[in-house]
Amino acid sequence: MPADGVVLDWVPAGGSAAGLFLPSEYFVKPATERWERREAMRLRRTVFCGEQGLFGRDDRDAIDRSALLLVAVSCLSGMPEQVVGTVRIHEGEPGEWQGSRLAVHPDYRRVAWLGSELIRLAVGTAHARGARRFTAQVQAQNAPLFRRLHWRTLEQIELHGRPHHRMLADLAHYPPCDAAGFVSMPRRAA
Ligand SMILES: CC(C)(COP(=O)(O)OP(=O)(O)OC[C@H]1O[C@@H](n2cnc3c(N)ncnc32)[C@H](O)[C@@H]1OP(=O)(O)O)[C@@H](O)C(=O)NCCC(=O)NCCS
Repeated sequence: MPADGVVLDWVPAGGSAAGLFLPSEYFVKPATERWERREAMRLRRTVFCGEQGLFGRDDRDAIDRSALLLVAVSCLSGMPEQVVGTVRIHEGEPGEWQGSRLAVHPDYRRVAWLGSELIRLAVGTAHARGARRFTAQVQAQNAPLFRRLHWRTLEQIELHGRPHHRMLADLAHYPPCDAAGFVSMPRRAA
């Protein structure tokens, strides 16, 4: 339980995180600070190397040299606390943007729309930078989430030995977003 004076910044979590208290506010934004980049890379390793076993000890690749890294940062009393979500975007060919390495910390899934908000910022940011198409290779179990967010499957493929959907975002649903990011609030327990 958070200490007195801090409790107003936290709300009870519903769903799988029931019983925990979670921050009431998250910044979804480009990673601008060194610690944000460091924590985002650590989260990616935890999720893609540890939890999912898709890579050995490090999931970084050549795309990281040119990609724009986005993060979801939990806040305490309006101050940034820790990186709890991340995604990266890059322009492969002119106008052709891709998103990859979307990850939300297990304790923060299904609590504040962080995955959805990272996708919104990813596509909106690319749109503002001139994207004509935005695609991603989505793990099959996440295809319904992307479909609800106005993406469609172009083809089904196998990647890292797992079923994936190559999906295309409908840019009409993603207005250009060139702001510093936005704030996401948690869903409260019923
Ligand atoms: C995929 C992932 C990024 C989604 O992050 P998230 O923050 O949980 O995403 P959201 O909260 O926006 O929505 C996820 C789902 O939770 C549901 N949800 C969210 N809050 C909920 C709540 N309080 N109660 C019940 N359902 C809830 C959403 O409706 C959505 O439903 P769906 O799974 O049926 O599509 C996250 O699960 C993750 O990191 N997974 C491991 C890595 C991974 O698979 N990366 C993607 C590679 S393509």
